[in-house]
Amino acid sequence: MSPFDEHATSLKASQDPDSERTRSAIIERTRAIYAGYASSGYAERWLDRSAGSVIGLREREKWLREALCPIADGTLLDVGCGSGALAIILARAGCSPARYIGVDILESSLAEAREAVPQGEFLLGSADRIQLADEVVDAAAALTLLSSVPDDWFRGRVAAEIGRVLRPGGRLVVYDLRYPSPRNRAVRPVTRRVLAGLFPGWAIESKTMTLLPPLMRSPLAASPRRYRALTALPFLRSHLGAVLTKPG
Ligand SMILES: C[S@@+](CC[C@H](N)C(=O)[O-])C[C@H]1O[C@@H](n2cnc3c(N)ncnc32)[C@H](O)[C@@H]1O
Repeated sequence: MSPFDEHATSLKASQDPDSERTRSAIIERTRAIYAGYASSGYAERWLDRSAGSVIGLREREKWLREALCPIADGTLLDVGCGSGALAIILARAGCSPARYIGVDILESSLAEAREAVPQGEFLLGSADRIQLADEVVDAAAALTLLSSVPDDWFRGRVAAEIGRVLRPGGRLVVYDLRYPSPRNRAVRPVTRRVLAGLFPGWAIESKTMTLLPPLMRSPLAASPRRYRALTALPFLRSHLGAVLTKPG
């Protein structure tokens, strides 16, 4: 049993959707999962710099630049922004948005983000209640956020809230795990079908990308040619990249 299994048990939130207590419990549970990642050393896996992982990161960065550089003169909301990795990627590409707003429930991550992205604005709080008016953002990003929300009902609330703050015709960029993680049952996969359920009526363009992490870290993926050969097999791609457009 992994150290996170105890958090994977459903709180049956969908039976009590109006309860503040249930909402608080889900948020606390999410924080506990992240505290577990930090204390167990699991979070360090994300810092892996094997040759294959670097190739995978570059592939993801290129895709993010293509999806988000076109809105550089607008407002970008980064939901579950963590330590601000997306803002750093866009700054490196020379296409920082005119206004970048990051939201996260972890104060420690926001502290890192504030330092790395001094021009950014950061909101501490949960993505189901974003402290912004309706339809004020031009684009939003949810990068490995939705797989981190440990409850279906709550995930629906987060999706609805993103839809509330995004302007009609605005785009939402999602990059997330599409398979369950055998080592971490807290991860909730995000497939195209899941997105269609969370954002009904939105246009969705999606593709699969990124080599399965254990393969990516192995010598089998240690050159661009080998990485490409492995990702030519669709079932070896672990993530979904999607651009959704809010109807308007
Ligand atoms: C896997 S991390 C990804 C961070 C960042 N998007 C990136 O790609 O580097 C997921 C982030 O979502 C945040 N998160 C999870 N549930 C959240 C919620 N309900 N509201 C806001 N942030 C949340 C976590 O605190 C964490 O920083």
